[in-house]
Amino acid sequence: MLEIANLHKTFVVGGVAPRGALAGVDLKVLPGEFVTIIGSNGAGKSTLLNAIAGVFPVDRGIILLDNEDITLQPEHKRAAYIGRVFQNPLQGTAASMTIEENLAMAMRRGQRRGLKRGLTARSRKQIKESLAVLGLGLEDRLQCPVGLLSGGQRQALALVMATLVRPRLLLLDEHTAALDPTTAEQIILLTQRIVSQEGLTTLMVTHSLDQALRLGDRTIMMHEGQIVLSVSGPERAQMGVEDLLEEFRKLRGVQVTDDSLLLTTSA
Ligand SMILES: Nc1ncnc2c1ncn2[C@@H]1O[C@H](COP(=O)(O)OP(=O)(O)O)[C@@H](O)[C@H]1O
Ligand SMILES: [Mg+2]
Repeated sequence: MLEIANLHKTFVVGGVAPRGALAGVDLKVLPGEFVTIIGSNGAGKSTLLNAIAGVFPVDRGIILLDNEDITLQPEHKRAAYIGRVFQNPLQGTAASMTIEENLAMAMRRGQRRGLKRGLTARSRKQIKESLAVLGLGLEDRLQCPVGLLSGGQRQALALVMATLVRPRLLLLDEHTAALDPTTAEQIILLTQRIVSQEGLTTLMVTHSLDQALRLGDRTIMMHEGQIVLSVSGPERAQMGVEDLLEEFRKLRGVQVTDDSLLLTTSA
């Protein structure tokens, strides 16, 4: 279980009056729960995920994962048990390395370095099986440099890499936003399959309100560094995109610029 209490983070840039990117976030995520996160640009969604992953120290607050206080733990230690997939397909994989090398790296996650350099026959078999279920034919291209893959293929690979060693927490930050709609839908289906098969505790940021309601167990909305809405169960099941838009319209400074997707905070 992930428990976050009173999390604060302020960025100070160029002497400008700092604005709280996280202004007191409280959040409990049950084991195996899949939470989707929405909010206008700059609401603090990525900052929340980055704080959980340990990208920077927070100003105040506490982060517990399975009752362990990880608030002060460095990012590389958390990376051993937190899987992440980002918006940019270039970020999750190493372009110059082959598919097999990328997956071997992912497989060693959390193990001490130098323990095992190459892949055993058994790991190679596991890797091939993980790739085969994608239906992209990547299992026959293990020696292909990842840089030659399409964005969608790389995101699929990034998902497999983030979950190859079962993560205690999976963080997805708009991981389909850079893909064309058809490919994005394929990655969403893959995400659903992996998360439900493995029962992974998952936080997924998305710009798509429809996706936010359709996937997972709970939807939270962030605004100015705080969680302003959390819906689950029957209440959520009855909600539509229009209802979410209505919630957005209630927030100060938010303009709904599009039927569902792009929401911006006016300065
Ligand atoms: N590394 C950073 N340095 C300075 N400001 C940042 C940094 N990361 C985020 N911010 C600021 O924090 C606020 C929240 O950003 P972010 O979490 O990226 O929003 P979202 O992901 O919801 O669009 C924004 O005002 C953004 O400019
Ligand atoms: Mg973001």
